[in-house]
Amino acid sequence: MSALPRRTFAVISHPDAGKSTLTEALALHAQVIAEAGAVHGKAGRRGTVSDWMEIERARGISISSAALQFGYREHVVNLVDTPGHSDFSEDTYRVLSAVDSAVMLVDAAKGLEPQTLKLFQVCAHRGIPVVTVINKWDRPGLDALELMDQIEKEIGLKPTPLTWPVGISGDFKGVLDRRSGDFIRYTRTAGGATRAPEEHLSPAAAAEAAGPDWAEANESSELLSADGADHDQETFLAGATTPVLFTSALLNFGVAQLLDVLLELAPAPSTTAAVDGTARAVDEDFSAFVFKVQAGMDAAHRDRLAYARVCSGVFERGMVVTHAATGRPFATKYAQAVFGRDRTSVEVAHPGDIIGLVNANALRVGDTIFAGTPVEYPGIASFVPEHFAAARAVDSGRYKQFRRGIEQLDQEGVVQVLRSEFRSDQSPVLAAVGPMQFEVVTSRMESEFRSPIRLERLNYSVARRTTAEDAPALAGLREVEVLQRSDGAHLALFSDRWRADAVARQHPDLLLEALPASGR
Ligand code: G4P
Repeated sequence: MSALPRRTFAVISHPDAGKSTLTEALALHAQVIAEAGAVHGKAGRRGTVSDWMEIERARGISISSAALQFGYREHVVNLVDTPGHSDFSEDTYRVLSAVDSAVMLVDAAKGLEPQTLKLFQVCAHRGIPVVTVINKWDRPGLDALELMDQIEKEIGLKPTPLTWPVGISGDFKGVLDRRSGDFIRYTRTAGGATRAPEEHLSPAAAAEAAGPDWAEANESSELLSADGADHDQETFLAGATTPVLFTSALLNFGVAQLLDVLLELAPAPSTTAAVDGTARAVDEDFSAFVFKVQAGMDAAHRDRLAYARVCSGVFERGMVVTHAATGRPFATKYAQAVFGRDRTSVEVAHPGDIIGLVNANALRVGDTIFAGTPVEYPGIASFVPEHFAAARAVDSGRYKQFRRGIEQLDQEGVVQVLRSEFRSDQSPVLAAVGPMQFEVVTSRMESEFRSPIRLERLNYSVARRTTAEDAPALAGLREVEVLQRSDGAHLALFSDRWRADAVARQHPDLLLEALPASGR
């Protein structure tokens, strides 16, 4: 069966840059849904589909990841959602292992923000091509050339704008299409709830229609060309340059251009590297890897879902695949496409598509499943935790539920779980990248596993990897604790970097390795 070409990408941004709004606008444009506001949304907005936990509602952030699939101009587009809060950057990192490109959303008024920088680094590390979108141009903001400077100086990526705004921020008339030289004029619609009409005007007509603003956009564009800031496909794919677009997600301005650019320039799914150094082409036997495991989506579907990205071959629901880690067969009768609370059965999926496998208790983040010729993809390494807390069941009579819950959350990667004989299984240490992960654990342990927990924050902020042999010697030192992670790694915990460095200096014979931040 021939499949339409795929584009699989994620939108990443600092919270509030407009990710949810852009997601809605993209979906609206591709006509997946009739009206903006129906897919995503924060507290108070209509139809908060992806906000599935109380904690998300209370805080107005989206924690769960989901994939939205839609058709656009003879292509299938997979938009993989990422969590908005920086405490979940590890989650974002995992999601980025499942996409071929990323759209980085920048708030025109705020410019680059801490989370934007962090995410850019993750993309650079993973070698993911990034399309930059300067959003909220309908509101007063920074100067466009200044924004380009920020990107180049602070990130080291050369911005190569494909469009350039006509009208300063706050007075968004349209964009100059720098490749065709045309003016794409936007017209506001009430509330931005429907597709914004756009007209393509020739340079001559544009000069008449937008006079000084048009002349200024052209001047800036010439400056950019003189600086070598024109799009170059090769350096974009290599992660050295980033095409830039200007949008107002709220008014649906520039959204069509973004979709067109993704189709035209963003990479299609391609060969995936395996652990043994071989590579699996997209047209080989079926294979996929799990990038996210999640349970307890909502009361109606209290089950466990493994999200997998199809790397090669064709997935057909019901096929029996092999779980590479155990060699066991795995039935896929309940494969689903998931976006927020909406679930529909997936019958067929192609490379680049995301499938949700229901009740996939054996599947862990980073696992491979395949049919036919065996293959195993590299796992996704854990982030370096910086926050540590000892967990205990409030009601010791519910220890069984406590243990089951902690194990489940560990497998999902909600937190890392560390154990030692000294601490006993009754009180494992939870390790997190950001403290909000603890809130998720506390909330889910109570609501989902019916075992409320008490957390005691520990005075550690640095973890170093050591070996089983060196562990006893390190554990004997003052202010050092050694624990074992469920993947078998031994971690030595220190109050701060200075303490860790001092121990390393005093005991050069003991292995103390800074944890790798990434794997794949
Ligand atoms: P996020 O998912 O990245 O966190 O951001 P989200 O889309 O929720 O947008 C954050 C705020 O910015 C929202 O306003 C949203 O309406 C606004 N916004 C997004 N894109 C644009 C844009 O292009 N132009 C303008 N002017 N505003 C934009 P809010 O007041 O926090 O929420 P709401 O009550 O309006 O939904």
